Amino acid sequence: MFIYKYISRDTKEFVKRKLNSLSIFKYRIVSFSPILAKVYYFFNSKISSELYNVTNGIYLNKVSNFNQGRFRRNIHRIEKGLIMRPRRETFALGYMNTVLDDYKYIVKKFNNEEVKWSTSVLDEFFRVCSGKEIDKLKSKYLTVRLKDATEDMWVNCKNPYLYKDKDISVSPQELLELCQVRSSVRWYINKVVEKQDIEDAIEVAKTAPSACNRQPFRFISTNNRDLILRVGGLAPGTSGFLENIPNLICVVGDLKNYEFEKDRHIIYIDSSLAVMQMLLFFQTKGISSCILNWPEEYKRDKAISKLLNLEKSERVVLLVAFGYADKTGSIPFSAKKGNNEMLEII
Ligand SMILES: Cc1cc2nc3c(=O)[nH]c(=O)nc-3n(C[C@H](O)[C@H](O)[C@H](O)COP(=O)(O)O)c2cc1C
Repeated sequence: MFIYKYISRDTKEFVKRKLNSLSIFKYRIVSFSPILAKVYYFFNSKISSELYNVTNGIYLNKVSNFNQGRFRRNIHRIEKGLIMRPRRETFALGYMNTVLDDYKYIVKKFNNEEVKWSTSVLDEFFRVCSGKEIDKLKSKYLTVRLKDATEDMWVNCKNPYLYKDKDISVSPQELLELCQVRSSVRWYINKVVEKQDIEDAIEVAKTAPSACNRQPFRFISTNNRDLILRVGGLAPGTSGFLENIPNLICVVGDLKNYEFEKDRHIIYIDSSLAVMQMLLFFQTKGISSCILNWPEEYKRDKAISKLLNLEKSERVVLLVAFGYADKTGSIPFSAKKGNNEMLEII
């Protein structure tokens, strides 16, 4: 504003404090009850873009013939059923028809790990479960089962498998060192990260735990200068070092994986777990990184959705700047809290 630069710093401070007191008063009132909070957000659009994505997600979840989140969750429910002690004679009957309809769809559409995984789970399910209803479902399964599938196709995803097959070779000290050497780096040399390194990082990221194994996220990576400036420029936390970012990943969560509002936060949890693994992998390759906050605001959300062609059920979780560190660049120390503040053993 034109007049703004003629106002003294003290006056600005005074106005700011008064506005803050008003804001405190407003939040005091609306935070009295969930109903008041709801009324407040009815008249205020601050969280409307999240609501828009949540409703679009639930709608798309319900209307789509095939829903990947639903399918992955159901297959996971079955694999969990298979490891129960004691294992029930029959289970999953309430949703097996949906599973088989979804399975029929993916067998036709894709030929990927998901098909192998689900075939191995369903094979095992129909091998160990018995009963009249199961027999009927089994014949339905056999009519749609992946053609010519043999067990060696899923040698790496045998379902279920025993813990004794696991071998751990990373020492606690190595892990600690890796975590300690990672820090948020904001100054990079002008060098793009090879595609293979990014693919390997995703390989590591996707081994992270995910609620019901849905994996409701994806990564959009670019080293296109113009796009980095436009996408990164939407994130206020890039201020001062945006021009310097050689590679950028946008982490996107998809709410159409969920049928209910109560699950709307899982995209953030799942993708963040995966992102952390990705950053640690980058570190092992000498690639530095810095997470960039994505503030949830209608205008910003709309702009990035347009730039990245996101679906109406997709939300940006965060951005990651990454690349080879400029060794002359400084790094904030960012001391960590003490264990006594973070840990309570009861
Ligand atoms: C969710 C999240 C958002 C962040 N956003 C920004 C950001 O917008 N800009 C920035 O420079 N750093 C950002 N950071 C980096 C933090 O400032 C940094 O992780 C923190 O100070 C700890 O430092 P360290 O990562 O070096 O241990 C973000 C980190 C997280 C986890």
